[in-house]
Amino acid sequence: MFYLLFRDLFKVRQSQSTTKQQLPNLRTPLILISCTLAIGFVDITSYFVVRKLILQQLQEKALLQVNQGTDEIDQWLATCSTTIQTIANTDLARSLNWKLLEPLLNSEVKRTEDFFKISLSLPDGSYYNTEVGKSNSSNNDRDFIQKALAGEVNISDPFISRSTGIPSVAIAAPIRQSYNPSSRPIAVLNGSLKVDRITQVVNKLHYGKGSYAFALNSKGEPIIHPQVMSTQEKPAPSFLNSSDSSLAALARRMVNKEQRIELISIDGTHKYVAYVHLKQANWSIALVIPRENIESQLKALNLLASILGGLLVVAFIISWRQIQLSNKAKIQVVMLSQQQKTLQQQAQELKQAFKELQQTQAQLIQAEKMSSLSQLVAGVAHEINNPVSFIYSNLTPAQEYIADLLRVVQLYQHHYPEPVAEIQDESEAIELDFLIEDLPNLLTSMKAGAERIKKIVLSLRNFSRLDEAEMKMVNIHEGIDSTLMFLESRLKATPNHPEIEVIKEYAVLPLVECFAGELNQVFINLLTNAIDAIEESFIHPQYLHSDPDNRKGEIRIKTEIAADKQIIVRIIDNGVGIPENLQKQVFNPFFTTKPVGKGTGLALSISYQIVTEKHQGKLQYNSTVGQGTEFVMTIPLSQQAA
Ligand SMILES: Nc1ncnc2c1ncn2[C@@H]1O[C@H](COP(=O)(O)OP(=O)(O)O)[C@@H](O)[C@H]1O
Ligand SMILES: [Mg+2]
Repeated sequence: MFYLLFRDLFKVRQSQSTTKQQLPNLRTPLILISCTLAIGFVDITSYFVVRKLILQQLQEKALLQVNQGTDEIDQWLATCSTTIQTIANTDLARSLNWKLLEPLLNSEVKRTEDFFKISLSLPDGSYYNTEVGKSNSSNNDRDFIQKALAGEVNISDPFISRSTGIPSVAIAAPIRQSYNPSSRPIAVLNGSLKVDRITQVVNKLHYGKGSYAFALNSKGEPIIHPQVMSTQEKPAPSFLNSSDSSLAALARRMVNKEQRIELISIDGTHKYVAYVHLKQANWSIALVIPRENIESQLKALNLLASILGGLLVVAFIISWRQIQLSNKAKIQVVMLSQQQKTLQQQAQELKQAFKELQQTQAQLIQAEKMSSLSQLVAGVAHEINNPVSFIYSNLTPAQEYIADLLRVVQLYQHHYPEPVAEIQDESEAIELDFLIEDLPNLLTSMKAGAERIKKIVLSLRNFSRLDEAEMKMVNIHEGIDSTLMFLESRLKATPNHPEIEVIKEYAVLPLVECFAGELNQVFINLLTNAIDAIEESFIHPQYLHSDPDNRKGEIRIKTEIAADKQIIVRIIDNGVGIPENLQKQVFNPFFTTKPVGKGTGLALSISYQIVTEKHQGKLQYNSTVGQGTEFVMTIPLSQQAA
């Protein structure tokens, strides 16, 4: 059983260690085992203590019963002995005159009913008794006569009466010469008791079924016994010589006048024997009690102990199962919660990884797009810059040369008012007067065109800002303006919409520390979306709140400086607006409401990242469907301050 218990315990420990959890304590099982052992120990000890006490009491009771039996015999023998002694000590007895003595003795036999005869024995062996009068035989050889003649009152072992043939026991007392107890015995008075009377008393002793009593004389011979009876004439073998060693030992103790109760083996089975020595005669009386007669009275105790033991075992098993179950449940709960945690963690990690992947992808796409766009823009700007400069720088000398030439032509006209016919014809053909008048204007507008190209090139370079990988102090308005330059064509009237007006409400701003190229990208994204929204409002005017006929597209660009060293750029359009149910999604990568090929859904997510992560700023918006949208970008003036 304990092997099983510890095997189970070990199992629990093993599975616990696999969970790498702290070991749930072994205290409970150990407490349970020690409690069970302690209770078991106390139970067993108390059982044996109580059992011993009860058994002792039962044994004492049995011994007491034997004692009562022997007391009864002793008292009876003592009374009988007193009767004989009293008569022996009378003058009538001392007279040794049978004729005188016989009536007294007869009346005494009748009165007491104890003796069946009383005898007067003379030292020469002749005797008289109340049965037959003078007997012809001699009783000189009787042991009890000799003892009495020697002055000793004694009770004989059983013998067969010579005059009556009845198994008898004699109580013999000396008749002394005088009242003086030390005077010489002159005869013996002896009363005969039937052995039956003693047997009756002895047989009254019993203790349940199968119990029996027996008596041994001083030689260990069974004078009263259910099977054998020893008399002086027919002596039975002494128990002292019994082949049954425990019986022989018992006989020895009885002969030695010991008295007690003990458990010994008789005829191969264990029996209790209670034995007591008589005070009046040299006999011992024993009561043999089958073991179960006494121990059966322990049945209730045994039953109680078995029930308690059984209950203890059942309680232990139930508690053990309970501990096991609760341990298992604990482990399962721990494992489940661990698994749940791991799963949650993994799900979280997956989600995060997916988000990062999306953003990286978006960034890659946009970065690639922007970088090639920037390179293209930068290349074009560079290529155009040289020839334009070349043209622009030659325009001034060309203007001077032409002015010089025109002056010479005017001098010719002044000094030769009538030129030859051929010159006159040609002058009229080329409308010389108009040419002279228009040429300076033409040159001026050429110069203006070249200047404009130069400006565009500058804006292109400004926008691409390839050379600026790091933070710089930048004029935000310049960035916005160069961005607008690119979008000029989209702002103009098209078949889809009339011209879109851009209203600039610039505040006086200090330089702002930022990544100029990336911030320009944000402006172009926000402005493109604003244009898209306005365009949409003209294509689907049914969504508009205002009167569609008298309205025009309008983009308001407001800059301001906020209290806590931040600048705010607002880009406000009067386009379609963002429906409320989509408002949460506009910053998500790939979220677009535009047709395939037009929208990528990346611009706002990238702008959001540029503003919040690269510039520690905020990008927010307010929008009403049918009225328009306001995007608000806030960034700190200096990144260190942020
Ligand atoms: N100014 C605006 N007015 C109305 N809707 C806008 C505006 N800006 C952005 N949106 C909405 O947000 C979506 C995402 O914009 P964006 O990230 O620039 O992607 P795309 O322009 O390629 O669709 C747009 O499809 C549009 O529905
Ligand atoms: Mg867009």
